[in-house]
Amino acid sequence: MERRKFIHNTCICALAGLAVGEFLQSCTTFKYSAGTIKGSDLIVPLDDFVDMTGNETQFRKYVIAGNDLLKFPICIYRFSDTEYQALWTQCTHQGNELQVFGDKLECPAHGSEFDTHGNVQDGPADRALRSFPVRIDGEYLKISLKK
Ligand code: FES
Repeated sequence: MERRKFIHNTCICALAGLAVGEFLQSCTTFKYSAGTIKGSDLIVPLDDFVDMTGNETQFRKYVIAGNDLLKFPICIYRFSDTEYQALWTQCTHQGNELQVFGDKLECPAHGSEFDTHGNVQDGPADRALRSFPVRIDGEYLKISLKK
């Protein structure tokens, strides 16, 4: 095999391996949680962030929480034991539901992208996502749905 062809093929294999690894990592961190609404709070068990698929206890980067009373799910990112960010998954451009891919939320309608804090990374959206205050109460996260 020519040297140039070998380098070309090796690079393609390496990139494919990275893409598959990233895809698998995002798959293993995903969980849907059917939250409970009490008063103005959406309540999600902290255990929903625990990932027991390996030998050690690991934590998911995020959980998608929903409830029949909510028009859109809420994506809750976990940054540490005490730091969480709850984001409304409605695009601020024209209101489509976002899809979550690891550390970003993407809009299938026109391609807007948002980061884990809801900030716009790529338009056409020009406003951050709606976010909700999150507090820890024992074994639960309480996400305040108040306006
Ligand atoms: S509705 Fe999301 S980018 Fe247009």
